[in-house]
Amino acid sequence: MRITVPTGEPTIDPDSVDLFDPTLYSTGDPHAVWRALRAQAPVHRQTLPDGRSFWNVTKYHDVNDVLRDHTRFTSSKGTLLSILGSQDPAGGKMMAASDPPVHSAMREPLMKVMSHRALKDRQPQIRRIVHRRLLAHLLDGGTWDIAAAAADFPMAFTGTLMGLPERDWPRLTKLTTMAVAPTDSEFQEGGGHATLVAAHHELFDYFSRFVRRHPGGDDLVGFLASMEAGGRRLRHDEIVYNCYSLLLGANVTTPHAIASTVLALIEHPGEYRRLLADPALVPGAVDEGLRWSSPANHFMRYAVHDLELGGARIARGDALVTWLGSANRDEDVFPEPYRFDVSRRPNRHVAFGFGPHYCIGAPLAKIALNLLFEEIVRVVEEFEVAGPVEHLESNFVAGIKHLPRAPPVRAGGARRRGGAPRGGHVGPRTPTPPPPPH
Ligand code: HEM
Repeated sequence: MRITVPTGEPTIDPDSVDLFDPTLYSTGDPHAVWRALRAQAPVHRQTLPDGRSFWNVTKYHDVNDVLRDHTRFTSSKGTLLSILGSQDPAGGKMMAASDPPVHSAMREPLMKVMSHRALKDRQPQIRRIVHRRLLAHLLDGGTWDIAAAAADFPMAFTGTLMGLPERDWPRLTKLTTMAVAPTDSEFQEGGGHATLVAAHHELFDYFSRFVRRHPGGDDLVGFLASMEAGGRRLRHDEIVYNCYSLLLGANVTTPHAIASTVLALIEHPGEYRRLLADPALVPGAVDEGLRWSSPANHFMRYAVHDLELGGARIARGDALVTWLGSANRDEDVFPEPYRFDVSRRPNRHVAFGFGPHYCIGAPLAKIALNLLFEEIVRVVEEFEVAGPVEHLESNFVAGIKHLPRAPPVRAGGARRRGGAPRGGHVGPRTPTPPPPPH
């Protein structure tokens, strides 16, 4: 998604706004639209040409209200605009599409194996993956598309965690992108709807076969198959839905957090120099990158009964779409929201959501992002864009498809192409160790 800094007075005809249109996020200016909606119509109803409608919720506190309270806003009828108006077949079976107590029964055991503490032992393995999959290419001296490479990255840690064979990773990466950006011509197989259907069909078929053949064991799929939720084992279809959700949750978000944060650091060289001077700022920079990019663009809920939200009267059964990228620029919560600040504090962004469905993969994503940016800061003194940045056509994922990058200036200026070192850091930095064996 294009990330802009809107200027001038925020005025717009709220009835002309189309937040459903995937092209708004590839070629339009959603930040300008969200800013105007926050100022003029923070909870506003949009009706599609086919008669389906939903409420656009754009202010931080309204977004949090919707995400936090399952007694007023249910997840069980579906949480993505792509299935607006049709009953989600995963409702009540997949953690992400269910409400407590079903939701909590599934989530509580899973949280134990996906917590920061449980994943701590995996850090050396993730660091090796960072080296092998990203840094080795970053430093090889050629022009390189960091967004395309980052797309493969989550499979390496989530795929490993789930026990999925490496030979399947490229196809699974493509399928998850097809599922969230079915109209993007680069990922289409047939028309938009056909692409969505094909992606879902192949993913569910894949996991159904994978789960049946799974021998059990200590990976995440083995855990799902053996854990108890509400006093019983999960059924086959529940395991399959949750495998799908875990894979999608990781694959379609983490790469865009990487590419968007790199782009933000390229566009704000002063902030990158601050990181070089003080690597302890990396965790803050990762959080600011998440706020800045908000890779999961929206999540949807349905009203359980008639209610009022942000001055609007919502009827039972109405769909509400919370725009996380908008909440993360709310000027009532974030001072100077359009400033990229690696030391922003507090930074209570909602990139991972809020309330009972707060991203269960957040600890894993944060470990991977922190390790990656720690390594980048250690070995890259400066990098720049070498070609046009292309954005994903999707109303669900705020993504970058292509970010060609010039050969980076390596720590100590080793790869500088002529001239004296530029940038804040001029002294020699710790030499790059060879990538550890995998
Ligand atoms: C930068 C990376 C990520 C971002 C921005 C992100 C964002 C989100 C958000 C906003 C939600 C809340 C959904 C809702 O309220 O309905 C969520 C939930 C979820 N995420 Fe993530 N996610 C990321 C990484 C991951 C990873 C690495 C995994 C898996 C390993 C994952 C798996 C899930 C699952 C299964 C849920 C549903 C949780 C529940 O319903 O309780 N996510 N994610």
